[in-house]
Amino acid sequence: MSDTAYILYLISSILFILALKGLSSPETARRGNVYGIIGMLLGVLTTFFMPSISNYALILFGIMIGGIIGAVIARKIQMTAMPQLVAAFHSLVGLSAVMVAFAALWSPESYGIGNSGSLHVGRLIEMSLGSVIGAITFSGSLIAFAKLQGIMSGKPIRFADQNKLNMLVGISIALLLVIFCASESRTMFVVMTLLALAIGFLLIIPIGGADMPVVVSMLNSYSGWAASGIGFTLGNPLLIITGALVGSSGAILSYIMCKAMNRSIINVIFGGFGAVSADSGPAAAVNDRPIKNGSAEDAAFMLKNASSVIIVPGYGMAVAQAQHAVRELQVELEKEGITVRFAIHPVAGRMPGHMNVLLAEANVPYDSVVELEEINNDFSTTDVAFVIGANDVTNPAAKNNPQSPIYGMPVLDVENAKTILFIKRSMAAGYAGIENDLFYNENTMMLFGDAKKVTEELIKALKH
Ligand code: TAP
Repeated sequence: MSDTAYILYLISSILFILALKGLSSPETARRGNVYGIIGMLLGVLTTFFMPSISNYALILFGIMIGGIIGAVIARKIQMTAMPQLVAAFHSLVGLSAVMVAFAALWSPESYGIGNSGSLHVGRLIEMSLGSVIGAITFSGSLIAFAKLQGIMSGKPIRFADQNKLNMLVGISIALLLVIFCASESRTMFVVMTLLALAIGFLLIIPIGGADMPVVVSMLNSYSGWAASGIGFTLGNPLLIITGALVGSSGAILSYIMCKAMNRSIINVIFGGFGAVSADSGPAAAVNDRPIKNGSAEDAAFMLKNASSVIIVPGYGMAVAQAQHAVRELQVELEKEGITVRFAIHPVAGRMPGHMNVLLAEANVPYDSVVELEEINNDFSTTDVAFVIGANDVTNPAAKNNPQSPIYGMPVLDVENAKTILFIKRSMAAGYAGIENDLFYNENTMMLFGDAKKVTEELIKALKH
């Protein structure tokens, strides 16, 4: 590789680091995206014009097919389906790592990494790691995709001696890796990769419910490490750096999410952390406890008489695409001199930053959007907690029911506000499938209906 290529790769890597920095805040996210696009373009063009690249037609054909598929998906995809799309994309990264590792082992001469039968042990280790991590990412991501898409049950699947089986498969992979590095046996390589596919599957099936977001970001991290491993095999520094950036940022995001959900990162890495006991608290059973069911006019009256309101958005706001109506509500209330802020739970919605993206799209000022730990104490001095399409992230079972699957997850203390308004279509449970006792609280009023429609009616009532 020429010095110019090294320098261009270095610039591209710096652009990726700036992209990550930009993406860490909604205010700078657009700029971050632009850095990422320029970095990727530079990386691709630098690779494209390397002397070792010859089959331009094939590469252009691949880019064209991938580009068209990507563009169609990007235009069609619903924001609420992003987690499964991300999982599907991770599976492709894993699969390509496996394929490159196989190609390099079967034809090392084409990669300029030595001759079959006498490959350096370092090369064999790189290939093994790329293939094993890639295979785990591939099968794990497919399961995550199937669970999030509803193709298979999102509930944790557990069976007797599951952890022992996982450990046995893990130890077998490690042994095969050692034997492969000593013998360069292709059969060992194939068996090792098949076992890695199996462990990816086994690690993700026991995870379910509210823990899926952590899994998706963990698989994101795995896909980065797989790409990095393959970067070593291909001798491509940009792939090594990019893979490491994805791997470590995914791991950091997983850690932050684990903290937000009070889960242990060790359990995530080794799987099975989402399992809950069968009697994990009340399901979304219909019961005959009384609730207060209000109208948009009732809610408008309460809001008008408030001096402070905290809006708690959740998945239902995304489904109803109610963010613009919510922004209009904020403007109307502020005209009345009411302080309006948004409380953001780290796992509200279905992907990290889901609520931030929607609110930014609706031009909600960043300074009125506040994270859980900064705003939670303020509910006790707030007149109205306006919960729109959120459920699990407010559920007090996380604090007072040790049997609940969400027990230990920090939640927004909306019950401390003078009044809670819940907009949702029914008494149905949220993602975790558990009942929310707050619906029956003395100070709760339910506003049944689609989040957008109810908010629009509320604005109309406020204006009159
Ligand atoms: P959920 O607990 O899932 O509750 C959303 C509520 O919105 C539901 O109870 C639903 O009730 C209501 N809803 C749905 N469509 C609506 C519509 N059109 N109009 C009005 N309401 C509507 O959401 P949350 O509070 O945001 O919590 C997120 C959950 O998802 C957590 O358990 C989290 O762990 C999990 N999760 C999060 C992520 C990430 S990374 N954020 C990824 C995967 C899973 P009705 O059906 O009665 O309307």
